[in-house]
Amino acid sequence: MLPFARVGGTLQCEGVPLDRIAEAVGTPAYVYSSASIRAQYERLDAALAPVPHRIHYACKANSSLGLLALVRSLGGRIDVVSGGELFRARQAGFPAEDIIFGGVGKSAQELREAIDAAVHVISVESEQELRLVDELAREAGAVARVGIRVNPEITVETFHDYIKTGEKGGKFGVPFDEAHAVARIADALPHVRLVALGMHIGSQLTDLAAYRDGIARLEGLIDGVRRDGVTTLEHVDIGGGLFVPYDGESPADLAGYASIVVPAVQRLGLELIVEPGRFLVAESGVLLARVLYRKRSGGRDVLVTDTGMNDLLRPSHYDAYHRIEAVHATTGRGRFDVVGPICESGDFLALDRELASVDAGALLCVFTTGAYGISMASNYNARPRPCEVLVDGSRYGVITVREAYDDLVRRESLTPDWRTSS
Ligand SMILES: Cc1ncc(COP(=O)(O)O)c(C=O)c1O
Repeated sequence: MLPFARVGGTLQCEGVPLDRIAEAVGTPAYVYSSASIRAQYERLDAALAPVPHRIHYACKANSSLGLLALVRSLGGRIDVVSGGELFRARQAGFPAEDIIFGGVGKSAQELREAIDAAVHVISVESEQELRLVDELAREAGAVARVGIRVNPEITVETFHDYIKTGEKGGKFGVPFDEAHAVARIADALPHVRLVALGMHIGSQLTDLAAYRDGIARLEGLIDGVRRDGVTTLEHVDIGGGLFVPYDGESPADLAGYASIVVPAVQRLGLELIVEPGRFLVAESGVLLARVLYRKRSGGRDVLVTDTGMNDLLRPSHYDAYHRIEAVHATTGRGRFDVVGPICESGDFLALDRELASVDAGALLCVFTTGAYGISMASNYNARPRPCEVLVDGSRYGVITVREAYDDLVRRESLTPDWRTSS
């Protein structure tokens, strides 16, 4: 069953008409299909079934507790990149042994939190960070389980430069030619145990050759490290990056992906870790918005909606395409700029887009917004962030309430808490 379909002229999520949800909770609202997340998880799990593997959901894609709880109920584990995401993971009930803590700039405080929690792997991205983990683990009387995120330094095709993360000279990971030496240091340090070597090449990878090339580099590195006598490795981590269609493209070729990954993992004799973010949740989500005004400007038809870059940053930040449809079928089509309420020219959902010729009051559905939607939302222009709703079959429920004006000022005060410097 498709998670979103038109029934009797009205778009539905699973068995629930989207207009029903909008009436009940208002707009803008993110709506997620649990069936979609379940199906994606099961597809990936099945593709990797020939080898021992762990699916760590990269919750930067969407760390709302309701979705984390769903992923956990499917048997999923989690990948976090900040103390805040670690907190969220614990709130959602993930045990420490199901958590990988990554990220290029973890503070000492965040590393202490990860060490104290005894997470499964702290993925380090520089020699300095490795040495800091060793030092902090010594202070805590612990031995931290570490992985090294290696920059595989391969050039990939992605939709936007901002989602390339494995190219030479980038900020992520340990440069490939230093990785072997850093692994040797990790092996020698007394308060860390080197359990994983890994990479993350980028997001929205259209060409599986990137995985083939990256894994080949990791295999070479792991062979070399083992020849040096390192015996503690348990995992090879190939990151996330699986492709998600936003505009009717073919979905990720999981059979092709497995045909590259499975033999390599079998050769290595390690447990595989994957860190899918977008793949698990992007297609599960839509953003519901109301058209506030329709006007003409310089010969263009403009739909001003109640949602914009504050709720969904991807169109303005990445030039991302999101399919938009009217929730209620109408006759007639037009070309529109679909824009938001924010005082920025870059605040748009789509420019010069053909869609149903709707007017003020119409309900719009912005597709494929389950990943990097709410997790990148802000309060810009002092707009409360939207609510989130989870659908499961014929029922739906709010998993995140809409922010209130009070939430906007909760941490602020009219007068400073004055202190003197002496
Ligand atoms: C280390 C790491 N793992 C996993 C992911 C998830 O990527 P995706 O959402 O493309 O699967 C990211 C995304 O930036 C990442 O940096």
